[in-house]
Amino acid sequence: MSIPPATQAIQTIESVFEQQLISEITANLKADQKSISSKFFYDAIGSDLFDQICHLPEYYPYRTEMNMLPKIAADMAALVKQPIELVEFGAGSLTKIRILLKSINMIQSVVPIDIAQTHLQKAADALARDYPEVAVSPIFADFTQPLALQSHNTLPKLGFFPGSTIGNFNREFALQFLQRIRRTLGDNSQLLIGVDTKKSAQVLHRAYNDQAGITAKFNLNILSHLNHIANANFDLQKFEHYAFYNPHFSRIEMHLVSQVEQSVVINNKPIDLHLGETIHTENSYKYRPDEFIHLARMAGWTIQQEWLAEDDMFSVFLFDAL
Ligand SMILES: C[S@@+](CC[C@H](N)C(=O)[O-])C[C@H]1O[C@@H](n2cnc3c(N)ncnc32)[C@H](O)[C@@H]1O
Repeated sequence: MSIPPATQAIQTIESVFEQQLISEITANLKADQKSISSKFFYDAIGSDLFDQICHLPEYYPYRTEMNMLPKIAADMAALVKQPIELVEFGAGSLTKIRILLKSINMIQSVVPIDIAQTHLQKAADALARDYPEVAVSPIFADFTQPLALQSHNTLPKLGFFPGSTIGNFNREFALQFLQRIRRTLGDNSQLLIGVDTKKSAQVLHRAYNDQAGITAKFNLNILSHLNHIANANFDLQKFEHYAFYNPHFSRIEMHLVSQVEQSVVINNKPIDLHLGETIHTENSYKYRPDEFIHLARMAGWTIQQEWLAEDDMFSVFLFDAL
């Protein structure tokens, strides 16, 4: 049997990408409710800060899902009877993939997709070193855009989307995303997805307003990332982190609040901000399990198995392609 290649070169699409991104950033900062897409959190510093958030006592989603995964992986090992390719969307540090690889020995190939190129490459190289029998083929891409896997194999795909990253999309976009990955992953595919649940607003509030101030640093770092990639001059001292649960939309909203009247230049264009005006940086939608199963069904996925953490703190679903 031939040994699969280790990490293949990341498919770089940088230059086209950059121009599109800068136009997108400027347009969103000129809207009535200013916003910056949460995908810009993840430069090298943002990726490291996210890893720190995962270990905060208040941040229950990471801890809860990590505690659930060994049992899920064992249940899945019994279900997966043929070799498969695992495709993770927004793969980050690949910590969760490792738990699946430990139990599901039918995973022959791993395709981690992420927008944070350096972080992804480092994590993929380490995974390839630790699992030489598994092909690791990272893709540097924006998963909110149409994506071709360009697989060199015909293995059935298992999509993996943990961490409730789906919660960053509004319902309409979540539906479109689930439809799109259904097409990308193809017939006979499955999707393992972690989704945060509705719960006490106080628990939610604490999770996004930690005592150590790491979430605030993470939120503010998005401005520093824009200073680098979009030729902007945000002064981080002039903004404050603000996160709250909006029960009307069942979502946490993260904003950056301007502490003064100010004008910021971005890509040679001025953006004016009033004292107290906010830039909306992230949503994190929370779902009841039946709501999410219904949404996935509309996108072409049918429920195969569901796991709920103690006190319904977090949910993980395995869906089959319809
Ligand atoms: C909340 S972290 C989750 C990381 C990992 N999947 C986990 O569950 O621990 C989100 C990850 O998605 C990546 N990401 C965010 N937006 C993205 C986008 N539009 N396209 C590709 N990757 C994205 C980030 O770089 C980050 O690694």
